[in-house]
Amino acid sequence: MGGSKGMRRGLTRYGDEGFALYLRKAFIKALGYSEDALERPVVGIADTSSGYNACHATVPQIVEAVERGVLMAGGLPVSFPTISLHESFAWPTSMYLRNLMAMDTEEMLRAQPMDAAVLIGGCDKTVPAQLMAAASADLPAILVVTGPMLPGSHRGERLGACTDCRRLWARFRSGELDDSEVAAAGAQLVPTAGTCGVMGTASTMACLTEALGMMLPGGAAIPAVEAARLRHAEATGARAVALAEHGPTPGQILTPAAFANALRVLLAVGGSTNALIHLAAVAGRLGIAIDYDAFDRLGRETPFLVDLKPSGRHYMDGLHRAGGLGPVLRALAPRLDLGCLTVTGRALGEEIEALPPAWEQDVVRPLADPLHEGGAIAVLSGNLAGDGAIIKQSAASPALLRHSGRAVVFDSLDDLAARIDAPDLAAEPSDVLVLRNAGPKGAPGMPEAGYIPIPRKLAEKGVTDMLRISDARMSGTAFGTIVLHASPEAAAGGPLALVEDGDTIALDVPGRTLTLDVPEDELARRRAAWTPPVMGEGLTGYRRLYHDTVLQAPQGCDFDFQVRPVTARTP
Ligand code: FES
Repeated sequence: MGGSKGMRRGLTRYGDEGFALYLRKAFIKALGYSEDALERPVVGIADTSSGYNACHATVPQIVEAVERGVLMAGGLPVSFPTISLHESFAWPTSMYLRNLMAMDTEEMLRAQPMDAAVLIGGCDKTVPAQLMAAASADLPAILVVTGPMLPGSHRGERLGACTDCRRLWARFRSGELDDSEVAAAGAQLVPTAGTCGVMGTASTMACLTEALGMMLPGGAAIPAVEAARLRHAEATGARAVALAEHGPTPGQILTPAAFANALRVLLAVGGSTNALIHLAAVAGRLGIAIDYDAFDRLGRETPFLVDLKPSGRHYMDGLHRAGGLGPVLRALAPRLDLGCLTVTGRALGEEIEALPPAWEQDVVRPLADPLHEGGAIAVLSGNLAGDGAIIKQSAASPALLRHSGRAVVFDSLDDLAARIDAPDLAAEPSDVLVLRNAGPKGAPGMPEAGYIPIPRKLAEKGVTDMLRISDARMSGTAFGTIVLHASPEAAAGGPLALVEDGDTIALDVPGRTLTLDVPEDELARRRAAWTPPVMGEGLTGYRRLYHDTVLQAPQGCDFDFQVRPVTARTP
């Protein structure tokens, strides 16, 4: 691309650059552009609208607002489509396809002439995919999210996807709600366009994108259907024109210190455990490793401040009324690296100083009065945790944070579906439910199956939580005493592969350990007898690529050829 700008960037290779530009202009003039328009800085706009994606239903209006901002600032906006992923419309899982969206976005940023890009994401995997793409392409880029949906209401009770989806479904499974009641409530769970209205993965990634400095301040929490969302998009378009001229690039913004800031915000907002995987993937594109030990240390000194479901009481509209992410950043400021550059061209500290004065609210707590002292997410070690397993203790039952019980093992998702509700399942409330072969390769796609349902026969007796362990992920909207991301996964020979029914498993969250209480010589015998499950036979295309190259959770489940050699770790 050399030093070329605008329409001269990335000329198609015909072996004659003059001809390539002549032909390009001939075709784009068919769209009605003048020479003046074609001489402007070009801002590409990634349009992720899709008939399958209700979380992105407002993308057409957002594109329009971004275009308006670009034009007002003297640039030329050009929108283009990319893959769009919705959680409930992606087989086998949206995680399986995140890397495909990242590749699509990265290559379109590279292939098409643009001086900067506005990336419009929202639903869980879209924002991580776009951040990964931006990090790899290293073109000036800025994100806009579609924003959270508003809460619904059923018989006077506020409802929001998808924390309340799970709560209602659990009540239905226990027999507390009948078919018609659960269906009537289901019609109110997603009352508007936008992303899940709790601190699930989408809201978490929106907050982390702002904390990383890749979004204009104030953009994380504006509801999808408020006019302010479109004004934010317009401002983003205008800012993108300045980015096209002067940067900074994602590589200048996404530093180890910026990732450490994002990890602190993840802990303070009680965010989704999925975000740890996504941050590792974005960082890996830049040769930065997320240090699990450092993250656990951050966790011990970063209190949980934001009173939002699934760990707290409020919905995302409450965070917006409280001032959005701004009050969280202000509360955390003494512990953040305030020198980190943001997409505004100013430092994070300058943006925090420019925040409006605080007002009284009950969603974001001050550092001196947190909801929970320790970190919301704890990193576990021990012979069952392998390279690291995690637990979201802010969403767990306090009584189970130190617990030991008998293992009840499910060998796969199919095995779980076949037996979890069987009347003769040998399971007691104090048992530990183990699900394996549900990781990145084994499932494949590391589904959000870590929220193993309480066996029906126990749910009917009023059991609402049990210790559950898996190599899967969990939705950011879920809750319970659930150990996740045990890695390496069982299908790759990780420690979960060695557990047998009846083994004793001990969890000690304050001590940060997860232990399989089986003698080492017996574990060695089981390891020697273990054979890997049959996977990957006859695969072609993307499925082949995924199977052969996907990495484990601590490496962000990215493809091995996408990560750069590690040159730095998060502080
Ligand atoms: Fe899209 Fe929850 S399903 S954000």
